[in-house]
Amino acid sequence: MSNLNNTKQGIKVTTCNTPLVGEIVTPPDKSISHRAVLFNSVAIGTAKITNLLEGEDVISTITALRQCGVEIDKQDDGSYIVKGVGLNGLQKPQREIYFGNSGTSTRLFMGLIASYDFDVRISGDESLSKRPMLRVTEPLSQMGVRFFPEDAKTLPISMQGSNNLMPIDYKLKVASAQVKSAILLAGLNTRGTTTVVEPEKTRDHTEIMLKNMGADVRVYDSENKIEITGLNQIKATDCIIPADPSSAAFIIAAGVLIKGSNLLIKNLCTNPTRIGFIKVLQNMGADVAIVNQRTQSAEMVGDVIVKYSPNLKPAFTTAKDVPAMVDEFLILSVICAFANGTSELNDLHELTTKESNRFDAIVKNLSLCGVSVEADYEKCNLKIKGMGGNFTFNSPKEPIATRLDHRIAMSFLIAGLRSQYGIEIDDASPIATSFPNFITILKSLGVVFE
Ligand code: S3P
Repeated sequence: MSNLNNTKQGIKVTTCNTPLVGEIVTPPDKSISHRAVLFNSVAIGTAKITNLLEGEDVISTITALRQCGVEIDKQDDGSYIVKGVGLNGLQKPQREIYFGNSGTSTRLFMGLIASYDFDVRISGDESLSKRPMLRVTEPLSQMGVRFFPEDAKTLPISMQGSNNLMPIDYKLKVASAQVKSAILLAGLNTRGTTTVVEPEKTRDHTEIMLKNMGADVRVYDSENKIEITGLNQIKATDCIIPADPSSAAFIIAAGVLIKGSNLLIKNLCTNPTRIGFIKVLQNMGADVAIVNQRTQSAEMVGDVIVKYSPNLKPAFTTAKDVPAMVDEFLILSVICAFANGTSELNDLHELTTKESNRFDAIVKNLSLCGVSVEADYEKCNLKIKGMGGNFTFNSPKEPIATRLDHRIAMSFLIAGLRSQYGIEIDDASPIATSFPNFITILKSLGVVFE
């Protein structure tokens, strides 16, 4: 599925009365996939990346790096070989770089390319072109990058990097791993020490991977501070990508909500900065367990067992919970409809800056499905009235609007499994950005689509 030609692919899921049972292979982690390709591209040597996510977002990253002269080849065994060009080896792309729907590709690439003395024009699809870029252009400008138009808040943007950037001490205004990573990548190729302090700890795959590749990175957990001292070459490093907790979340939700289900998801990334959703589910009383924890390619991984959980307590989250589950609130909101009591999800400002305004999408779509939602649009707080374990969603007359957002599409297809007459979404094509075989997996579990 691809939305390159802008054709919408509507689809309807029917109510599910079959238990979902078995071992499911969910997609490789998107965040780690982007980083494995990006960082190995500027390393010394050749790296083999196993289980790379072949979603459209990661393909956008690969295409951009190929435009900069990096050789990235798929092998017969499905792995990818990246031939690193070293810290200063990227070439000026001949054309504009188009990042499709991918915010991670865009912001991390901006950081990577910041230390090159050439200009690049960057664009994206309709959704990406609405997303805030000042959060990344502002710190990179402080380091010495120039952006055109100068006050550009959104794509398309042209940038003129510099091979003589200044290291900065930067306090992030928003808890964003993408912005943190952009600054650290610029710092990787800048003399001196660049420092980033985050308001809350966000996913730390950049720090973990750069350190594992030999970069001079220091993490001070008690202060949420990261330092990188630049101009040290990094070593190409083979990487096995674990499964993505943010994608697995949809399958976990299905297991929790469908009677009789019992699912096993192996090799999930269980990095503590990524498993907030599982922890919240456990606090709600859901039967979800992480077992067999181990380390793989410097990241924590484990296996997850999920069972049908009819007696859920309401969820309660605040600002400090958001980063470790920032992509999971849509699907959590679907589960909250089945809790015995009102869930309170607070400080969800960052949800308004994603592939769509997910805060608004939760409010509008849950209401359409018959759930009572109280929303404070200023504070970005939500109260979702749970209707208990026997609830079923209404089936809206009109298809749910996907808003070019893969996670809206997947969340409301999962909601459809526990609906009166199924749920239709107006466009399934965005799902290909992160979870290309989502519908195939559900079908293999017995779910029926029309
Ligand atoms: C990501 C960080 C998060 C997340 C996105 C992936 C990353 O975005 O929503 O899907 O790989 O760094 P923010 O940094 O904007 O919160």
